[in-house]
Amino acid sequence: MKTAQTWRFSMKEMQNLPAPRHRGQLKKPTWIIVLVSLVSLFLICAYIYPRHNSAACYVFSSNGCKGFSHWLPPAPAREFTDDEIASRVVIRDILSTPPLESKNPKIAFLFLTPGALPFEKLWDKFLHGHEGRFSVYVHASKDKPVHFSRYFVNREIRSDKVVWGKISMVDAERRLLANALKDPDNQHFVLLSDSCIPLHDFDYVYNYLMHTNISFVDCFEDPGPHGSGRYSDHMLPEVEKINFRKGAQWFTMKRQHAIIIMADSLYYTKFRDYCKPGMDGRNCYSDEHYLPTFFYMLDSSGIANWSVTHVDWSEGKWHPKSYSAKDITYELLKNITSIDESVHVTSDEKKEIQVRPCIWNGMQRPCYLFARKFLPEALDNLMQLFSNYTAI
Ligand SMILES: *[C@@H]1O[C@H](CO)[C@@H](O)[C@H](O)[C@H]1NC(C)=O
Ligand SMILES: *[C@@H]1O[C@H](CO)[C@@H](O)[C@H](O)[C@H]1NC(C)=O
Ligand SMILES: *[C@@H]1O[C@H](CO)[C@@H](O)[C@H](O)[C@H]1NC(C)=O
Ligand SMILES: *[C@@H]1O[C@H](CO)[C@@H](O)[C@H](O)[C@H]1NC(C)=O
Repeated sequence: MKTAQTWRFSMKEMQNLPAPRHRGQLKKPTWIIVLVSLVSLFLICAYIYPRHNSAACYVFSSNGCKGFSHWLPPAPAREFTDDEIASRVVIRDILSTPPLESKNPKIAFLFLTPGALPFEKLWDKFLHGHEGRFSVYVHASKDKPVHFSRYFVNREIRSDKVVWGKISMVDAERRLLANALKDPDNQHFVLLSDSCIPLHDFDYVYNYLMHTNISFVDCFEDPGPHGSGRYSDHMLPEVEKINFRKGAQWFTMKRQHAIIIMADSLYYTKFRDYCKPGMDGRNCYSDEHYLPTFFYMLDSSGIANWSVTHVDWSEGKWHPKSYSAKDITYELLKNITSIDESVHVTSDEKKEIQVRPCIWNGMQRPCYLFARKFLPEALDNLMQLFSNYTAI
């Protein structure tokens, strides 16, 4: 815009310029040639450097010359495959089309469980009084749970076997999303396990998730054996090692993101076939890598890079800390709800600790809305404390 205006202005000035009579007739054609050449040069530049429009602007802008680097063509990007081009246009279109406005936007809570839901009573307490602003879906992969809460009765979707660390875990997540997407009022989707509890009251959670346009998908770069060490070259060319990311599976996501997962078969297939236990003599777990890598590659600014589900890995064991009944104190829950920085630790020798503030709509806010892993015996203490700790 600025360039075009500047240019038009100069043309006008030139036309109005009173040319000295004795030079006028001789010089006029020369001026036209120069003009036409400049315009052509500009158009050619704009054509050659479509993504670097700024470079063309610098031709005419007096304050824009920041160095020679602007004149260099961008490093040649890898040529995308047909599948990749097709995938990317579909995804870009979905992301740039806002979802249909719902008069009654709801959050879909997606429970991924082998069977029983020991904290159903706590969730009932959390959901009570907020009818019409949420929906519940349960994927019970082994046993059909017995329900205590009316919000959970008949909310099971058709399920299939889930093997820990295998693609069947991702399949179950996709199945939950697909079922929840059938209801156009569902605008944000939360994946939870049987050992998850809510850390805040419903309104807090609803506002936190609905009043932002990002998804809380965990994503970080781990150059160690439990990160990029799990990558297989078989994923080339579409998934390069430099783009391989890691993150906990417990996401929340906006509708557009749930839809691009439905639309994706290219990247999903790469992970299904080449990120699995025993791949190239290593163990790769798709549920920890597919979504972080997918979103990093296709909409990295659309995700928060941390999970709103807290878990305590500080004991440094193979499994995170499990909270028992005696661990449940007001102090513990206050500690967890007041955390406002996300922490990632790499698995290489350096054990680099990456600490980032949790930024929500530009403000630093508490990171967590949910927490795991709680043992079933913790239920009674949590029920007693719920009103107290959610009021924090
Ligand atoms: C999210 O909203 C902010 C303003 O609230 C806007 O600047 C930003 O572009 C939006 N991002 C996406 C991915 O829609
Ligand atoms: C998440 O990380 C990516 C880089 O990996 C960054 O571009 C993006 O802005 C981050 N998201 C937010 C919300 O800060
Ligand atoms: C809560 O945090 C404080 C300060 O970090 C710590 O000293 C205390 O042990 C924590 N309490 C619990 C129950 O985790
Ligand atoms: C719960 O909150 C009330 C009022 O703030 C307080 O008096 C009470 O001690 C709290 N209970 C516990 C177990 O922290």
